[in-house]
Amino acid sequence: MHLIETRDLCYVYPGKVTALDKINFIAPRNARIAVIGSNGAGKSTLFKHFNGIFKPTSGSILVRGEPITKQNSREIRKFVGIVFQNPDDQIFSPTVEQDVAFGPTNLGLDPETIHHRVHEALKVVGIEHLASRVPHHLSGGEKKRVAIAGVIAMEPEVLVLDEPTAGLDPRGVADLNRFINSLSTKYGMTVIFSTHDVALVPEIADYIYVMDKGRIVAGGSVNEIFMQPEMLKSVRLDVPVIPKLLSTLKENGVEVSMAYTYADAEESLLRAFGKRS
Ligand SMILES: Nc1ncnc2c1ncn2[C@@H]1O[C@H](COP(=O)(O)OP(=O)(O)OP(=O)(O)O)[C@@H](O)[C@H]1O
Ligand SMILES: [Mg+2]
Repeated sequence: MHLIETRDLCYVYPGKVTALDKINFIAPRNARIAVIGSNGAGKSTLFKHFNGIFKPTSGSILVRGEPITKQNSREIRKFVGIVFQNPDDQIFSPTVEQDVAFGPTNLGLDPETIHHRVHEALKVVGIEHLASRVPHHLSGGEKKRVAIAGVIAMEPEVLVLDEPTAGLDPRGVADLNRFINSLSTKYGMTVIFSTHDVALVPEIADYIYVMDKGRIVAGGSVNEIFMQPEMLKSVRLDVPVIPKLLSTLKENGVEVSMAYTYADAEESLLRAFGKRS
């Protein structure tokens, strides 16, 4: 049984804008899935189906093998936590600490557990020092971290992040990489995220869906997807710089093995230039 599965899911906005067209998407347990696609591809619309915010116009969505109903919607929101693209859509309390505590409080947890979860979540995203600040007076990247902390504090089994790195500085992006990987390895959390930042994808994802104009046009491992530069170009995306550079070297006779992450590329280049056996 998959944690999330959609079957021929279609969604049409009022005004007859078809945003999703026959989407078949699967999230197995403990996967780290990237959904990449250019502006307007349908990523945010798809994500809003994962915990029942939107209902399919046709087709279906199953969470843990069951359709989302009125009866199980509360349970499902506990199970699937979504960080929206725009943090202003989910921040509304007078202080950061209260905002992050909102979800756990709604779950009916005891005050000690709430306190612990809030401080852990603030620590994970590196904003413990902002605990007593007014969220609306924070910078864009700081707000983004507050929104992420608020969802992490609910400890969902599936964490959905819509454009998590948009607005984060380089250190913020590196922190995010690290904590997404640790959520997945330490807690077995399933992570689904969207991005246009293709460089980020090999560092975090083990499976990729490519979306264009409301459709999934490709799905596969990092190797499988980034071996198709023409397909990526046709949907206005790019190949990350690391495999692009290694391909050029290969084409010019340098015997390097293909790599996608920074660490693997470093290893591959050092070996190619005889600095490592
Ligand atoms: N409220 C709405 N009413 C009508 N059409 C909408 C609405 N929201 C989104 N759309 C349309 O649905 C399509 C998919 O939008 P969506 O926001 O899901 O794309 P996205 O892949 O998340 O894009 P981005 O990378 O810009 O965030 C677009 O064509 C968009 O114009
Ligand atoms: Mg979006």
